[in-house]
Amino acid sequence: RVLRRRQRLSHLSSLEDALNLLKTSKNIIVLSGAGISTSCGIPDFRSSTGLYAQLQDEGKYELDDPQQMFDIHYFRERPEVFYSFAKQIYPSNFVPSPCHRWIKLLEDKGLLLRNYTQNIDTLESLAGVEKVLQCHGSFKTASCLRCKNRVPGQTIEPFIMSQHIPYCPRCQEEVAQKQQKKDQLKRSKGKGKARWDEDGEEEEEEDIWGGGEPGIMKPDITFFGQALDSEFDECLFKDREEVDLLVIIGTSLKVAPVSEVLTHIPHSVPQIYINLTPVHHVKPDICLLGDADSIVTDLSSRLGWTIPSPAAVPQP
Ligand code: APR
Repeated sequence: RVLRRRQRLSHLSSLEDALNLLKTSKNIIVLSGAGISTSCGIPDFRSSTGLYAQLQDEGKYELDDPQQMFDIHYFRERPEVFYSFAKQIYPSNFVPSPCHRWIKLLEDKGLLLRNYTQNIDTLESLAGVEKVLQCHGSFKTASCLRCKNRVPGQTIEPFIMSQHIPYCPRCQEEVAQKQQKKDQLKRSKGKGKARWDEDGEEEEEEDIWGGGEPGIMKPDITFFGQALDSEFDECLFKDREEVDLLVIIGTSLKVAPVSEVLTHIPHSVPQIYINLTPVHHVKPDICLLGDADSIVTDLSSRLGWTIPSPAAVPQP
């Protein structure tokens, strides 16, 4: 099947082919990564100047491997390391790049089936893209590791900015109540009155003290070792039946399951890869290598499309 596909699509190779595909496609999936935000001032991960190289060089976070910064097991052990660093990647006043605005342009033209982004900077939404799936989550919400209580991201923003660990407000409330009951129990034991629980059993101290600390709040970004939200599979299952062009922009395609989108859509769907550096473990039909902003701007001008200017982007 792959061989047949390769023969059928082997004629595709150049900019001209990319232009023809963009002219004729109606249901485009854009799969994007950190490379579409580097021009906004947000480093990517694996380039020589990327976040992982910076973490390695800085060496101040005692990480065996820079990816540990985003590993759920390491986070559970040493949350203070992530919270000493998180303010560096917290979305603040970044402006969407021409790539983000190009994705919005596809949507405005009714050509975008969905943007599967690996980025957590929410710049797609800031550019006004509605059909965006944040495969690796974002800082928009945060959840308690212990009781799963979910809060708006703003709740933990002060902790991120001040580099402190945010604890779960609901767990803290519960711990305070249990402490209060424990103190009352102690006092009542002192006066010979045992406390009785609902079925008349004398309530032992440990019954009250559910024990444990309040849970730690973690931004709802997908760490290594965590499953993606089920929405990813649901969307892909639906979209694979409709997609007629896959455009991959600014990603090394090193992280599954997002990198496996290429193999989960029908082999007959052409794939255009726009990236600074080539990719070797997969074979997109058309590779346009260079700066992504410049490439999408050039493609648009050749198609007579106009990428909306930053000013035209609706502000939140
Ligand atoms: N134009 C085009 N490509 C660019 C540009 C640019 N201006 N800047 C960087 N790139 C390319 C790099 O050459 C690289 O191949 O973007 C790619 C970014 O790759 P990564 O740094 O691996 O980032 P990404 O693919 O998004 O990582 C996926 O890995 O660590 C996890 O959760 C994290 O979502 C992230 C996932």
